[in-house]
Amino acid sequence: MCGIIGYTGVKNAQDILIEGLRKLEYRGYDSAGVSIQHDGVIDTVKSSGRIDALVEKLGDGIPGVTGVGHTRWATHGAPNDTNAHPHISNNGRFAIVHNGIIENYESLRAELTADGVCFKSDTDSEVVACLLELYYDGDFKSAVYKAVGRLEGSFALGIVCADHPGRLFAVKNMSPLIIGVGEGENYFASDVTAFIGHTKDVIRLSDGQAAEITAESVTVYDADGNETEPERSVVTWDIEAAEKGGFEHFMLKEIMEQPRALEATIKPRVKKGRLAPEGLEELDISKVSRIVIVACGSAYHAGVVGKYVIERLCRIPTTAELASEFRYSDPILDESVLVIAISQSGETADTLAAMREAKGKGARVMSIVNVVGSSVANLSDNVLYTWAGPEIAVATTKGYTTQVAMLYIFAVWAAGKLGRISSEREGELTKCILALPERVQHAIDLNMHVESLAKKYHTYKTPFFIGRNFDYASCLEASLKLKEISYIHSEAYAAGELKHGTIALLSPDELVIAYCCHEALYDKMMSNVKEVKARGARVLAVAQEGNKRVLAEADDVIYVADTDPLFMALTQIVPMQLFAYYAAKENGCDIDKPKNLAKSVTVE
Ligand code: G6P
Repeated sequence: MCGIIGYTGVKNAQDILIEGLRKLEYRGYDSAGVSIQHDGVIDTVKSSGRIDALVEKLGDGIPGVTGVGHTRWATHGAPNDTNAHPHISNNGRFAIVHNGIIENYESLRAELTADGVCFKSDTDSEVVACLLELYYDGDFKSAVYKAVGRLEGSFALGIVCADHPGRLFAVKNMSPLIIGVGEGENYFASDVTAFIGHTKDVIRLSDGQAAEITAESVTVYDADGNETEPERSVVTWDIEAAEKGGFEHFMLKEIMEQPRALEATIKPRVKKGRLAPEGLEELDISKVSRIVIVACGSAYHAGVVGKYVIERLCRIPTTAELASEFRYSDPILDESVLVIAISQSGETADTLAAMREAKGKGARVMSIVNVVGSSVANLSDNVLYTWAGPEIAVATTKGYTTQVAMLYIFAVWAAGKLGRISSEREGELTKCILALPERVQHAIDLNMHVESLAKKYHTYKTPFFIGRNFDYASCLEASLKLKEISYIHSEAYAAGELKHGTIALLSPDELVIAYCCHEALYDKMMSNVKEVKARGARVLAVAQEGNKRVLAEADDVIYVADTDPLFMALTQIVPMQLFAYYAAKENGCDIDKPKNLAKSVTVE
């Protein structure tokens, strides 16, 4: 939700900022802007639309070696030129970029307006620039601390002041912010992808911290303004991982990367044929009475798969809850409840709020997260990292499947620890988990077949996805994928529920995509498929390799490689990721950046 970047060094700031904004565009793409300091002034150019529109507007460009940039996903105020960031103080001496929400902006705005301040935009963010002007007496740091002290809400801020050449301030509170440490130049950004082409040395700011950045130094201060030792680390992946590498879209590249991402997630967790995930050392699973999984979007769907696997293997009562609902449900929790938060980005505001709610009520919080050092990871008692690498396409694919794999690892590990499965079964399941990357490769090899099916079916208006149990969890994810990137409305239905109402909608014009992979429920599922066929609808089935019976009922079948029934949910989602991708392509959609969406949703 919005991407911010800052640069100070010796190179042309505009080029660096634009290059970084292109990498951050997945976070929001309704408008963009840059402010660059030079010759005692700040020049700002902003534009509604994509980064290309901004580049066009920049024309010959702005000189200068220090500046800030922003790409926006609108929350307060329409996506137009005026509401685009950076925002400038009335006297033009400060420019700010902001990611997050200033919750008390209305009262601050009223107060400042009464003092004669003139607001130009409808945003919550502009108050920051105006507060900086109000508190500035020549001391940049003091103005930053006084202004930030007035703010409530979440914010990652980048600030430049015309009076302080080559100097930037970056402030973090509950929105992502990372500093890139270069040689004779330094960066800050919402995400490391923005500057990974220049440096892999990073400083991760904690909430409440601020950094004063010049070309030669990065000084980190705590919430009280005292200098503090920065937490430095080195990023383990490089620029190629964040580029398309010859693929037409990031989404297709990321689908194809799944075997590798799964291998990176699974392999290090298996030692001598046994699961030994690091990060769980201090978790006494025998003391856990109940598990609650909290997450949003696809991560929630991974949680639904997790619920089924954990309950089956560990016999621990488990629920999967939408994080945005959970926090307002006055959940019943205590120290015997393990809350598992799942998040690719590690910055989803609803998930973070649910975690805080859980911690406040004494529960232990574990997370499954892809981004090292993210807010979700920092808030957790135990962290299991998915090693998917950077995911750029807004619609998640490898992020989702690695989350599911991590849940399998956790469930088998916990069941073994609790003695709920024999050592032999644990060994068998571990082998199945190790084979998942190769099973997923098999599903990816169906690429051309799935493409032809997408070409055949992409004109159907409202496909229904039906399935039972694990298959139902896959329906939820498959339906979301189709909706978010191809804009084809679809419904995910528990197959048994169809006859309780929705069947009224079926006609020969409808497509039903039936997940028939759950062997134990196959006959029941076939009854539902027959009900659908009796209403004349077309049926595209997803079934396990070798299942010939399904051919008698379905118009088309996608066969996915067999694995233990507990783990089919992972392999069987891949063809539907491809189906959504090709349907979106047929419909001429902007696949990596679907309209109205953002990858990292840092507002509630
Ligand atoms: C957004 C994305 C989804 C994602 C969800 C949760 O809605 O568009 O693809 O599943 O956020 O994101 P997280 O980073 O917490 O997994």
